[in-house]
Amino acid sequence: MRYCLMNQPAGLALVDRYGKKPPLIVNYASPALRRRQKKISARGELLIRAVKEKPGARVLDMTAGLGIDAFILASYGHEVMMLERSKTVYLLVRDALMRAQQLKDLKPILDRLTLHHWDSTQAFLPAKGFDAALVDPMFEEKKKSALPPGNMQMLQAFLGQGAELQPFLTAAQALGIRRTIVKRPRVDREPAINARRPVYQLTGRSSRLDVFFNPV
Ligand SMILES: C[S@@+](CC[C@H](N)C(=O)[O-])C[C@H]1O[C@@H](n2cnc3c(N)ncnc32)[C@H](O)[C@@H]1O
Repeated sequence: MRYCLMNQPAGLALVDRYGKKPPLIVNYASPALRRRQKKISARGELLIRAVKEKPGARVLDMTAGLGIDAFILASYGHEVMMLERSKTVYLLVRDALMRAQQLKDLKPILDRLTLHHWDSTQAFLPAKGFDAALVDPMFEEKKKSALPPGNMQMLQAFLGQGAELQPFLTAAQALGIRRTIVKRPRVDREPAINARRPVYQLTGRSSRLDVFFNPV
């Protein structure tokens, strides 16, 4: 088996036994995230702008991944429910959340985050009353992230790429979520033939947010 989960002193790690990449450990207290978190604002964070709500909004993160976007939204004051399909990624994030809970300054942020192991394209009954949904599947290779770049690359190498947007949009609509935000690479190489068009887009340095309104 190429990849394995290992308990290391810094936390639960995803290890590539044949690769040269360092182990993937999610750390919400990393210096990069702390810097980003300290200057958090709706102006500076595209995602917060896309949610377009005052702190305290409820966001459903349909593709939790390493939970970085969710952590940023929770740092702003939103309440985020994260759904993650991969059991391995879920365990990595759960471990990171438990470690971060022990840090006094991060605890209030962590209290606004919940995580479930679930395929978000399937009906999830407790997911009700959300102001916005976030979708960030593996559309294509990502070059930047708030964590060391290796973490996102490692996640992609482990999970592979390929995701269809429509099932997420359908699921968000079924849950009565009016606004769905889809994170894509800034330059999108995916063909948009027959794809539903967003109402508007916010473009950042490395990524783009497509905002869809669901008829609810
Ligand atoms: C690019 S990562 C998300 C990164 C995340 N936005 C962050 O800030 O760390 C995509 C994640 O979505 C998860 N995923 C893909 N399809 C999913 C589904 N149908 N339900 C739940 N999670 C899904 C993958 O397992 C992967 O962990």
